[in-house]
Formats: sequence, structure tokens, C-alpha cells
Amino acid sequence: MYKKIRISAPGKLMLLGEHAVVYNRPCLVTAVGQRMRATVELTDDATFSLEAPDVKVTSYSKPMSELGISEVPKGAQFVELAVKNFLEKYPFTDGLKVTTQSEFSSQFGFGSSSASTVCVVKALSELTGKNLSNKELFDLAYKTVLDVQGKGSGFDVAAGIYGGCLYFVTGGKVIEPLVVKELPLIVGYSGIKADTVTLMNQVKAKAMKYPEFIESLYTEVAKLVEKAKSALLDNDLVTFGELMNFNQGLLESMGVGIFKLSAMIYGARDGGAYGAKLSGAGGGDCMIALASPDKTQAVKQAISAAGGQVIEVETNVEGVRVEV
Ligand code: MEV
Repeated sequence: MYKKIRISAPGKLMLLGEHAVVYNRPCLVTAVGQRMRATVELTDDATFSLEAPDVKVTSYSKPMSELGISEVPKGAQFVELAVKNFLEKYPFTDGLKVTTQSEFSSQFGFGSSSASTVCVVKALSELTGKNLSNKELFDLAYKTVLDVQGKGSGFDVAAGIYGGCLYFVTGGKVIEPLVVKELPLIVGYSGIKADTVTLMNQVKAKAMKYPEFIESLYTEVAKLVEKAKSALLDNDLVTFGELMNFNQGLLESMGVGIFKLSAMIYGARDGGAYGAKLSGAGGGDCMIALASPDKTQAVKQAISAAGGQVIEVETNVEGVRVEV
């Protein structure tokens, strides 16, 4: 068994189905090439220590017996509670030294918190020789996300573990890897940081006021996710793009669109994209466009002209893995 291990997990981009997936509907998600990396080492003292410079955590340490008890800095929450949850289920007596490093800014909404949670759970599974299955890793990492933020579908955790493209239903009720031939996505960052929990709460407040409208929006989203899944499997990018546009309209109705994202989305469509929509919680973060290679340049230019920052991403990449 190792004493020290290096793990990486990919970030994610929501393709279709955000918000509805929090309420027992399906979504489609892809893992992206920008990865979170973690080094995890078993130590002889019973101390937990963490270096996570990307989230401004340096030289943080406490006794293993106090995990999750005394005050936890925001940037340390996911990793610390991941360790605590693992320890409660699979006790061990060593201390732990964790270092995380991200290849992407936590601003983009690529799921850096869930990817670091995934890395730590996978590292502990390997270091303790438990060799947990993907579903067991998912359950522990998803519990951690719920412990920290109180809500969320877990789609980001699934993308970090399984990688590729997934059809996913709330809480991992279904996690279905999809064989996708191509997914030529262009990603534009709005420059505005969105807080996922705040946006989920906004949509929930709207659903309390207009339950029948919002419920029917979720149901429509679920229908188009099913169609989009078939389109993706058939490599029918034209239909997939049209369904992205439908989904964007429904997200606008939920109230999570903003002017800047819309400008980038309309720009991408005018530039010849098959379709474009926001990706994730809305209110900022990123938009995605699907475009054929001959339109890529025009779409990127349109996104930049609307004030967005084009981010090069590889999609459909490998899930969590041990690095040598
Ligand atoms: C956020 O990226 C996507 C949401 O659907 C939240 C979630 O699924 O956990 C809004």
C-alpha cells in the first residue's frame, strides 16, 4: 500500500438540465480537461494539514479528532469534511497531509470544490486499500457536498469521478456514461462570479411563488434532456444545438439569465453556432456554444466581441485517476 499518492479529477460543464436536475430530473454533463490535482500523504502524527493556495488556504492544520468541529475556513470545508466523512465510514489512525492545486480558476464554475472532494475521497480509498467502486466514491463525495452547501444534485461529483459525458439523475439515482463521438464546444466566461447556492435559492423562491409554472419548466427541461441524449448518441449536433437554445429559453424563464451571458449567447448564435446557452447555475460564470469547425472562429470572435473570455477546453475527458 502507498503512503503518499497523487490524484487528479476533471472539472465539469453542464450541457443541459441545470436547476431542473436539483428536483429529480435528468441532466447531461461533460468532464473537461482542466483538472484538479491533489497530493495526499499518510503521516505518523494524528494531525490533518492542508495547503490549498487556489482557495487561499495555507499552513492550515488541526488534530484529526477535531475535523469539522472547530471553525473551518471556507476554502478548507470540502476537503476537511471529505476526510471526516471517509474516516467515519472507514476509520484509520494516521494523520494526513493534503495539498491541492487546480489547473483552472475557481471563478469559472468548473466545479473546483467538487473535484477536490473527489480527489480526496479517491486518495483515501487507495491509501487505505479500500478500493471503493465509483458509486461508493460518489456517495461519500456527494454526502460531503451536501454537508457543506446543503443542496445540489451531485452532477459535478459524478463528472469528476466517471469523466466522459454522463446522463445523470439527481443524487446519482442514474449515472449513465454516454459514448459520444464528438462534442465541439466553445466556452465563454462572463467575468462575473456566480454563487450556485444563491441561484438555487432564487429559483426555489420563484418555485414557491409560482409552483405550477416552475414545475412545468422542470418537466419540459426533462423532456428535452431525453431528446438531447438521443441526439448526442446519434451525433446529431444540429438537433442538440436547437435543444440547447430551447433550454436557454426555459432557464431565462426561471430567472437565472443575465444580460452579459445573453449577449455572448446571441453573439455565438449569430456567429453560426448550432446552439448556445448558459452552463451551470446562471447569474454569471460561463456560457457554452456548439459549433462546427468552420464556424469556430466566428463564434469565438462573437463571444469576445460581447465582452466574454473564450476558454479553451477539452470535453469528454477521463474521470478521477491516480497519477504516477
Ligand atoms: C450548477 O452548476 C447546476 C445546478 O443545477 C446545481 C446542481 O445541479 O447541483 C444549478
